[in-house]
Amino acid sequence: PRVAVIVVAAGSGTRLGASAPKAFVGIDEHSILRHALGSVASAPSAQVVIVVPAGREGDARTEAEAAFGDRIDLVSVVTGGETRQRSVAAGLAALWADVECVLVHDAARALTPRAVFSRVIDEVMRSHVGVIPALPVVDTLKRVDGGVVAAAVDRSSLVAAQTPQGFPRETLTAAYAGAVDEHTDDAALFAAAGHRVVTVAGDDLAFKITTPADLDRARHLLERSRP
Ligand code: C5P
Repeated sequence: PRVAVIVVAAGSGTRLGASAPKAFVGIDEHSILRHALGSVASAPSAQVVIVVPAGREGDARTEAEAAFGDRIDLVSVVTGGETRQRSVAAGLAALWADVECVLVHDAARALTPRAVFSRVIDEVMRSHVGVIPALPVVDTLKRVDGGVVAAAVDRSSLVAAQTPQGFPRETLTAAYAGAVDEHTDDAALFAAAGHRVVTVAGDDLAFKITTPADLDRARHLLERSRP
């Protein structure tokens, strides 16, 4: 099966409070993007599309060369858009004709283990539907209205969605072509087009680096895993 991974890395990362775009912020001696590409490179894919902010295409290629070595020919670098959805659309436009299964992955989930990629790919191949890695919600959730708690929310029916999210290529491309609204993730866009989405087990290590505290957590995890 021909699998492509689109790595979206075109966000500004305002909440991280860094001067560089988020994907180019260092965790240790390597950037968020470099770590993300390291985990993508360990997964079985035939094409990798990296979506970056305008002006960062050359930097992304340097990171990709470090992560992919002599497999660099499978990497394409494209310029992202104003929103995550536009960045994914730019990635989809760069897919090779023979790709059958597409995974869309946030570069910000830099430490995602290889096993998550495998679970998503296997399930897309088996069931031909949308697939998201998900974790149970641990916090107690409240619905609020102007700061006042309006209702408790039953968390047993809720999960937290992660990436990589996987889809049959033709169906995802058609869903994007027909999308009118802005959706928070690819699974929401896919489901809004009337398609089924199922879950596989996510992983704590696939957390999204959003705030300075998340960056600290990633740094500590990497320090701990050093020999
Ligand atoms: O901002 P947030 O962390 O939710 O973004 C999730 C992922 O989408 C990040 O990896 C970010 O780089 C990417 N993104 C993008 N283009 C945008 C906004 C976000 O590629 N315009």
